[in-house]
Amino acid sequence: MLRFVFTKTARYPGLEVEHNQFLRSLRTLFVNIKYRGVRRTVLGLLAIVCAKAGLPILQDYRFYRQNLLESGIDTDGIVEREALDIPEERKASAQRYEASSENEFRHILEKLNIDCSAYRFIDYGSGKGAVLAAAARYPFQSVTGIELSGELHQTALQNIEELTRRGRVRAGDIISIHGDAASYRLPPVPHVIYVFNAFGPDILQGVLDNISADLAEVREPIYFLYNNPMHHKLLELSPEFDKLSNAFGGKWMVFARPAKY
Ligand SMILES: C[S@@+](CC[C@H](N)C(=O)[O-])C[C@H]1O[C@@H](n2cnc3c(N)ncnc32)[C@H](O)[C@@H]1O
Repeated sequence: MLRFVFTKTARYPGLEVEHNQFLRSLRTLFVNIKYRGVRRTVLGLLAIVCAKAGLPILQDYRFYRQNLLESGIDTDGIVEREALDIPEERKASAQRYEASSENEFRHILEKLNIDCSAYRFIDYGSGKGAVLAAAARYPFQSVTGIELSGELHQTALQNIEELTRRGRVRAGDIISIHGDAASYRLPPVPHVIYVFNAFGPDILQGVLDNISADLAEVREPIYFLYNNPMHHKLLELSPEFDKLSNAFGGKWMVFARPAKY
């Protein structure tokens, strides 16, 4: 079988994970059909082709426009690192804002097959709250995001208000916190942790150290979903976490800290 292997992708420069581009595209297509249906997936693909050809038609079917239309939430666009309203000393480590794919997130979470009602969910570097909105569809005890940019945090607050107004929330409290991921301390209860290419290894190591200290007494398993896992080696080297799986051709990695008995 033909094997298309790259070590970097144009969309995620710097991601050094090897992946099979063909299988990755096939998986993405399957997941889109599963969550969006055939019609909207085909229209979405046509919208991308039209946009690439400079034809501004079918725009409503592009991912973020669909989100805006369906859920009333704005998770649109890319905010480059230089344009983020964050402290200067954090700029070297921070990554640009860009929303996760809701479909990929749902696929990974459903594959975990856990009882969400026994967990809190946390997104480090939560931006406008795209993943908070996706996680809010599951019965987590709470869904919390920590975001360093005040502007993105304000948009997240509006999005949470809109989701709640539309009754699209199954989780308990949905919270966006304006702050630094490195300073956030977790309550000692079971967590599903999420990071999508938010910051460099310095901050990630601080986050991992806090997780380890704060959840030391938690006996249940802890899950760490890592999207675009640029610094996966830190988790692989961690004595606490085991790698459960690679998904989307290595664009996602799932780690777990086993139950303590
Ligand atoms: C790629 S975006 C991910 C957004 C969101 N998690 C999602 O998946 O849709 C990364 C976010 O991390 C934020 N960020 C960067 N450094 C941070 C830090 N030290 N503490 C909290 N947030 C940070 C950025 O402002 C940006 O919004």
